[in-house]
Amino acid sequence: MNQTIQDEIARLKREQGAVIIAHNYQIPEVQDIADLVGDSLELARAAAGLEEETIVFCGVDFMAETAAVLAPEKRVLLPAVDALCPMARMVTAGEVRSLRGRYPEAEVACYVNTPAEVKAESDICCTSANAVAVVESLDADQVIFVPDRNLGRYVARFTAKEILPWEGFCYVHDRMTVEDIDRARETHPDAEVLVHPECRPEVIDAADHVFSTSGMVRHVCSSPGEEFVIGTENGILYPMQKKCPGKRCYPLSEQAICVNMKKTDLPLVRKALERLEPRVTVPPEIADRARAAIERMLAL
Ligand code: 13P
Ligand code: SF4
Repeated sequence: MNQTIQDEIARLKREQGAVIIAHNYQIPEVQDIADLVGDSLELARAAAGLEEETIVFCGVDFMAETAAVLAPEKRVLLPAVDALCPMARMVTAGEVRSLRGRYPEAEVACYVNTPAEVKAESDICCTSANAVAVVESLDADQVIFVPDRNLGRYVARFTAKEILPWEGFCYVHDRMTVEDIDRARETHPDAEVLVHPECRPEVIDAADHVFSTSGMVRHVCSSPGEEFVIGTENGILYPMQKKCPGKRCYPLSEQAICVNMKKTDLPLVRKALERLEPRVTVPPEIADRARAAIERMLAL
């Protein structure tokens, strides 16, 4: 009997003592072979507690790096070595140091979409699922928030602290518009509009709810509503349909595709398991400081 690529991946995974975790934006075939699919926070939490020696991380670079920081004794593989999040490159460790010099009273909260070097310079890390609670947990009245300007401004709505946002952005979410929402409401007048906090402030104002990617899936499953317009990367529609099959979900924008999230495919996952590379590592002196910022978030 011919082996499918899914069978080969399952065999290699057993032989190598590996676990496969995947972000909600991954292509359906990759989500289907993963042991766990989730948002950045769920995947970071999982990576910290997995038993397997090898973690195959189907996502983008900063996510695999976060797993490597949290589980330094594990082998973390990123099947598509060029799956890079452009927003994570919009702030550097040197820029965070100079912001601290300019605002000595402020604490630094960094979005998980950052390199380990930036996390190492930060007081605490956050994801889209917990950014408000993270900022509220800080003692300082002034918070430097990097790199996403939209998430920073979203957090500022819910806190009395002064938020000093950086000018980074996600090109996938930043190009969603109020016109997209108006059009979607005309086409689907009974639908609830859900958007990600990486969207622009005016898009957030025009939406009904704001959630992380897994937060959107949970809302769609639990809401009495039947139709939803989804303002995030369109990969999310797959786990949504899988977990809430009775609901009808439409993309806010057909253009909402993160090319880096689509780079991982089954042949690359198989190759990673065969060769045990590409491996993501973080130098211990950076990892130890980055871990403090991530663990402080996970402890909340
Ligand atoms: P989530 O943490 O909501 O899954 O978002 C990750 C991300 O990269 C959004 O663009
Ligand atoms: Fe980065 Fe945006 Fe892609 Fe998320 S969707 S990984 S923030 S580029």
